[in-house]
Amino acid sequence: MGLQPQIIVAHDRSKMAETAANIFTSTAKECVTQKNLFTVAISGGSTPRDMHKLLAEEPYGSAIPWDRTHIFWVDERCVGADDPASNFGLAKKDFLERIPIPLEQIHFMPGVIAPEEGAKNYQGEMQKVFQIKEEDFPIFDLIFLGMGEDGHTASLFPGAKSPGAPYRWVAAVKGGNPNVYRLTLTYDVLNRARRVYFLVSGKKKAATVKTVLENKDVRLPAQKIRPVKGKLIWLLDKEAASLLSKEMIPDAS
Ligand code: 6PG
Repeated sequence: MGLQPQIIVAHDRSKMAETAANIFTSTAKECVTQKNLFTVAISGGSTPRDMHKLLAEEPYGSAIPWDRTHIFWVDERCVGADDPASNFGLAKKDFLERIPIPLEQIHFMPGVIAPEEGAKNYQGEMQKVFQIKEEDFPIFDLIFLGMGEDGHTASLFPGAKSPGAPYRWVAAVKGGNPNVYRLTLTYDVLNRARRVYFLVSGKKKAATVKTVLENKDVRLPAQKIRPVKGKLIWLLDKEAASLLSKEMIPDAS
């Protein structure tokens, strides 16, 4: 089990997006300097959209080494790319179509083929980039996660059977809102990343944030994200952090 999570509280949603865009940029630069490659997995939902938009703007856009960056998804709804529920479709509009990244380095999860086949194909695609065997696990440099009010993260929902088989890296599941088939990275992959950032904003999620971070009883999917060796950071806005005990927040007075 990794270290205790670090908590960062941003003043509001837009400051949170700026902090996240800075983290994306500095991690990309650091990884490319060290090993000439940066692998990141991004989430869907509405929360990361402000950060995504910033990534195509200055000062971030030209500072990120896009030519050495590989973008993957934490999860996807099994719908077409033009469907408003498509995580890839939204990210494309928000930033991908405005950045100079080689197309073959945008690894979207297949939405329109049978989910089990999609999971298999995506695992194969990851294997090529990470150049590892099926018995191993990919180690992402950076993963951004979101969290729902019910404590789900990625497409790992409360009460769902722990997805793993038949593919250990990518699972096909059904659930969430919209309640459709989805592909999701598994806990095994998420927990092997070097850095995992949760981005959570808004009052509606404050009670779940408190449960996840303060309740020792591990029940919710978001509580099962405990990187084996990597860092875990919760980036919250003030509203999402509003119910946390004072001692949980580093600079609370
Ligand atoms: C997806 C997600 C999911 C999301 C949370 C929070 O549904 O595609 O990746 O886990 O991060 O549901 O969503 P919001 O940011 O919209 O609240």
